[in-house]
Amino acid sequence: MDWGMKNRLSQLIKPNGRCMYLPIDHGYFQGPTTKLERPGETIKPILEYSDALFCTRGVLRACINPQNSKPIILRISGGTSMVGKDLANEEITTSMEEALRLNVSGVGLSVFIGSDYEKETLLNLAKVVNEAERYGMPVMAVTAVGKELEKRDARYLALCCRICAELGAKVVKTYWCENFEKVTNGCPVPVVMAGGPKVGSDREVFEFVHDGMQKGSIGVNLGRNIWQNEHPVPMIKALRAIIHENATVDKADKIFNEAKKNK
Ligand code: 5RP
Repeated sequence: MDWGMKNRLSQLIKPNGRCMYLPIDHGYFQGPTTKLERPGETIKPILEYSDALFCTRGVLRACINPQNSKPIILRISGGTSMVGKDLANEEITTSMEEALRLNVSGVGLSVFIGSDYEKETLLNLAKVVNEAERYGMPVMAVTAVGKELEKRDARYLALCCRICAELGAKVVKTYWCENFEKVTNGCPVPVVMAGGPKVGSDREVFEFVHDGMQKGSIGVNLGRNIWQNEHPVPMIKALRAIIHENATVDKADKIFNEAKKNK
């Protein structure tokens, strides 16, 4: 592996092999998502607890201070919206030249396996990897399910993650699910977990992240369950402890409650 690729990957995966990515890319198809109306304000108190930020070039240029940033994973796919015909019909929106100009540490794009646009989105990934390898740019594949959240089971997600790895993704972002070891065991590159829509209780977030870490994930790319929480700083602190300090669910709960008191 060349120096540039190694250097970028080392910004995205910490020396302990773990990572905590903070995604704020949701607006690219959801518009002004709740609590992400002003992305710059949303991330202000929580950015310091993350290892990298996942966002589009528009939000990066408009809302993120270039002098005080974290490593960036640039979302480079899109072209569809919540109110359009089919979320899966994505194309590549942002060139590798832009990614290099913005000095990002990685690029990320979605694939929609099992959808009408499976082939197109997988070829998007393959083509992006061809180009990214030339420039030493890590690619994070996002196994997207669009509005079909019920698709999130181990058999389907294992299939998705493996295909992304086969096509050359350096990291795969997928959803946590029951029997998550089936997903990580079948994927030869690191797997990170997204949260999806906000779950019922704070403890549930700690539970699924802890379970996923025990079952082979290297970390999270977790958005709404952090910044839509009433207490985003305590939440990210507790999750960081699970990821980087092997905290148990009880310990994370304690960190969360103490941080809430000390606010
Ligand atoms: C949106 C994404 C998000 O980055 C990903 O889903 C993680 O965010 P969340 O934890 O809110 O689901 O790819 O398209």
